[in-house]
Amino acid sequence: MARPDGPSTAPTRRHYLMCRPTYFTVEYAINPWMDPDVVVDRPRAIRQWEELRDLYLSLGHRVSEIAPIEGLPDMVFAANGALVVDGRVYGARFASAERTPEGPAYLDWFRQEGYTETSEAKYVNEGEGDFITLDEVVLAATGFRTEAAAHQEAERLLGRPVVTLQLVDPRFYHLDTALFALSGDRIAYYPGAFSKGSRRVLEALFPDALIATEEDARVLGLNAVSDGHDVVVAAEATRLADRLRTLGFTVHPVELDELRKAGGGAKCCTLELRDHPLA
Ligand code: ARG
Repeated sequence: MARPDGPSTAPTRRHYLMCRPTYFTVEYAINPWMDPDVVVDRPRAIRQWEELRDLYLSLGHRVSEIAPIEGLPDMVFAANGALVVDGRVYGARFASAERTPEGPAYLDWFRQEGYTETSEAKYVNEGEGDFITLDEVVLAATGFRTEAAAHQEAERLLGRPVVTLQLVDPRFYHLDTALFALSGDRIAYYPGAFSKGSRRVLEALFPDALIATEEDARVLGLNAVSDGHDVVVAAEATRLADRLRTLGFTVHPVELDELRKAGGGAKCCTLELRDHPLA
């Protein structure tokens, strides 16, 4: 499945869904990054988010936006809103009461946009935050948010094999905080976020993966977005950026430290729409 280290692949144009952080705050704590006593500079969060959106547009990607809802400060983290594969939408069911209304809000957006295959989830799952779609398999995590039963639910619904991975470090509570897809068959990850068994699964499936350091993971460097050639990555993850450049990728550092106060980075703000019905 994995190829030896080599040059990056050709970029492919993507379609992303994003949600402006109009109502962003940190007023509750549902992960170790969040401290409600820390002051959040919302205009700065909005500026950083706009830079991310504009970067995607400049790379040739398409960006759709869902209207933010007052009282849902984490709605900016669109990756958690759903999982979309082959035009099928698997709705999110959030683990925390604070984020629960986001699930139906995102599903409504999909229905209004003309997606006909939308499913409400029976099991707790936080969308693309815990599911990473590759060409041959979907990698899925459990441990903090998404239930393992949701992995099977997604596998049945999407008709793609889903590989279950166990997260063990509370700082890396979603799969996309510890692992990202460089292309359809290559990944980068921080092994310390995974159980011993899951590390062995990853080693077996991806012997040539880019192994990231704790330093990179601590600044949410693994919460990156790649189109196969251009990689959008936290500015502080300098070591990871160097490794990516060595592999032939073009690195685009982004400053998102204001949103990191809620435990999110570039990937969290980005839900990939695979096969939009009107594309
Ligand atoms: N505060 C949010 C939460 O804890 C951050 C979500 C980040 N999203 C992600 N895809 N990792 O749920």
